[in-house]
Amino acid sequence: MKKIFASAFLMLVAGGFAFGASPDENDVKMDRFITDLMNKMTIEEKIGQLHQISGGDDIVSGEQQVNSPGQQKAEMIRRGEVGSVLNAKGVDKVMQYQKVAVEESRLKIPMMFAMDVIHGYETGFPVPLGMAASWNMDLIEQMARVAAVEASADGVCWTFSPMVDISRDPRWGRVVEGAGEDPYLGSEMAKAMVRGYQGEPGFESDTQILATVKHFALYGAPDAGRDYSTVDMSRLRMYNDYFPPYKAAVEAGAATVMSSFNEVDNVPATANKWLLDEVLRKQWGFDGLVVTDYAGINDLPRHGIGDPVSTTIRALEAGTDIDMEAYAYHYMLPEAVKSGRVPMYVLDRSCRRVLEAKYKLGLFDDPYKYIDESRPDKDFFTDEHRAVARKLAGESFVLLKNEGNILPLRKDATIAVIGPHGNNRPMMLGPWFYPHDIYRAATVVEGLKEVSGGKAEVLYARGCQPFESEEYAKRVYFGKEFEKDNRSDEEILKEALDVAAKADVIVATLGESTEMSGESSSRTDLNLPKPQQDLLKELVKTGKPVVLVLFTGRPLTITWEKENVPAILNTWFGGTEAAYAIGDVLFGDVNPSGKLTSTWPVNVGQIPIYYNCKNTGKPMDQWFQKFRSGYLDVSNEPLFPFGYGLSYTTFEYGDITLDHDSMGEKGRLTASVTVRNTGKYDGYETVQLYIKDVYASIIRPLKELKAFKKVFIKAGESVTLDFEITADMLKFYNYDLDYVCEAGDFEVMIGRNSADVKSAKFKLVD
Ligand code: BGC
Repeated sequence: MKKIFASAFLMLVAGGFAFGASPDENDVKMDRFITDLMNKMTIEEKIGQLHQISGGDDIVSGEQQVNSPGQQKAEMIRRGEVGSVLNAKGVDKVMQYQKVAVEESRLKIPMMFAMDVIHGYETGFPVPLGMAASWNMDLIEQMARVAAVEASADGVCWTFSPMVDISRDPRWGRVVEGAGEDPYLGSEMAKAMVRGYQGEPGFESDTQILATVKHFALYGAPDAGRDYSTVDMSRLRMYNDYFPPYKAAVEAGAATVMSSFNEVDNVPATANKWLLDEVLRKQWGFDGLVVTDYAGINDLPRHGIGDPVSTTIRALEAGTDIDMEAYAYHYMLPEAVKSGRVPMYVLDRSCRRVLEAKYKLGLFDDPYKYIDESRPDKDFFTDEHRAVARKLAGESFVLLKNEGNILPLRKDATIAVIGPHGNNRPMMLGPWFYPHDIYRAATVVEGLKEVSGGKAEVLYARGCQPFESEEYAKRVYFGKEFEKDNRSDEEILKEALDVAAKADVIVATLGESTEMSGESSSRTDLNLPKPQQDLLKELVKTGKPVVLVLFTGRPLTITWEKENVPAILNTWFGGTEAAYAIGDVLFGDVNPSGKLTSTWPVNVGQIPIYYNCKNTGKPMDQWFQKFRSGYLDVSNEPLFPFGYGLSYTTFEYGDITLDHDSMGEKGRLTASVTVRNTGKYDGYETVQLYIKDVYASIIRPLKELKAFKKVFIKAGESVTLDFEITADMLKFYNYDLDYVCEAGDFEVMIGRNSADVKSAKFKLVD
């Protein structure tokens, strides 16, 4: 109440964004306010708005600190040469920075504080690839809301999320940060996250923060899956397969866009006028601001498109508003503007966009809107937030195999948790998660004890080292120490086998370590690390039932494991509550319902592999046929298809019925299917609808996801689902890049995953 009153009062003073007023009135007021302000600004102050610096350093005063990095930053802020700060962690630190800006700089322009809030802030959620596997967009939106509440309680008003880069290559470590390989699912997730972070239009409350859609564009398609490497793709593929999630996020109102490190059509995204101006602003109508990726402008000369000054100018002219941490605008633009090399209107355009973002956030009304030191205690890691995280973690897990229904486990069993991930808190979190306390997450051992209500006897042994060598571990952890066990490999294994001998069941907790996926973590071998493979083989040899609880940030080539381990539950990196969610699922309190959102390859040679591929002129119908598109050594079948995931129950799909067998461009038809729960457990099923354009003017994919519904079906009951098909769902970018649908034959497919569908045919008529 107090806040609303305060900002209403200040609105009169600053001429702020009056939410009751019509949009035009708001715009006029905002424009007037910003024009007045810009009239007072020097060139350096305008450039300052485009300069984003890292907030890692404390801004302290005192003789002994003179010229410390913090002091130098404070000095720049005082001179009006900084517009925003990234990664200032902690509301007290944010307060220090903001005070200098609004109390000590000439024009007292508030700064924005940004952070990579990727899968939660203090309450840890599954990594995004895991969240996507829940196919539960409401829950994902709630995740983003919770993250926004917690981050804003710590002074953050801007998150660098969602990352919506489509990727078909699991060698690329950053698949973990996105929704997987599908443009439609990726778009739905992008929208849900933007809605969650930003809330209702207007940024009225102090929990609504700016979202950033990144990394624009095509960052997920580097050659050979090597991070930052060359991207080269046809415009048709961009428009039809890779652009949709960025566009969806923009349409959902994402306030900011981050340009990517890679090139798009031979020009780095950060300096690519076609991409940032023509596509983003003109074609999609984006009117927010564009920020570079970390020091991205410094990469431009290395890409070989010019010297530092000319490339810096090119970035600004292309439409890159904010320079994150490269200091290129800061050092090079003053001279470039004064000499006339950069027209003033180009600088003004970007400066205005930054000021507009601040205005819309309400920072001119109240620069301390997001800086309330009493909030962390109230808003961090609350029971309510943790409950959302536990639910989403449980729904993100994918049951890959459950031979002989060895899952769920009895709560009174003796369970041997074996593997380096079983008793390790940071391991639950995954990359891109920086809470104040990384030791807050429960371990698998604790989770099982808690969920069994103390009935299970839970034993633990580490079993092996997580990596084959210390050198590898150092590369994974950027030189940081990892928890090494100083015993010999034989001793570690012997302990594990002794523990296993006492148990009814072995829960093998293995997989990638938390930093093995993420930025700059590409891999060419997607197996479990060798010591873990060896351990698993020993555990299987004991003859005890083995459940592999898998940790990963990407699809893995677990071919041997699929053949030889009776049960596999993929848990990604599930966050602070993951251990309880693992308990929920292993003991059957929660029936697993996650489904993969990327195709898992049999081996690395099959990559890139994705379900929505094209037919080719020589498709291989069965393995092996000479002069057909395939391999001599493996079939084209993946290890697990897109959309795959089991449940403790079974679902049977009836045939598809269509209410019409044709429709016009303005019409619609309904495809219905009845799904029956034929097993013993109640459960959720994600019913997926795919469409194929049988003949089109350009080659179209074999099938494309166009809708899905996650439904709860009680054991023995059935549900009939109706999917409405409209002409919009049949549209694609044609050879001339016009977005069209073409009359002709279509196939609609509905099923439990992309490879197991029923189908029916219909026509689109002129
Ligand atoms: C990453 C971005 C991130 C930025 C700021 C970069 O290295 O690519 O995803 O938002 O750093 O931390």
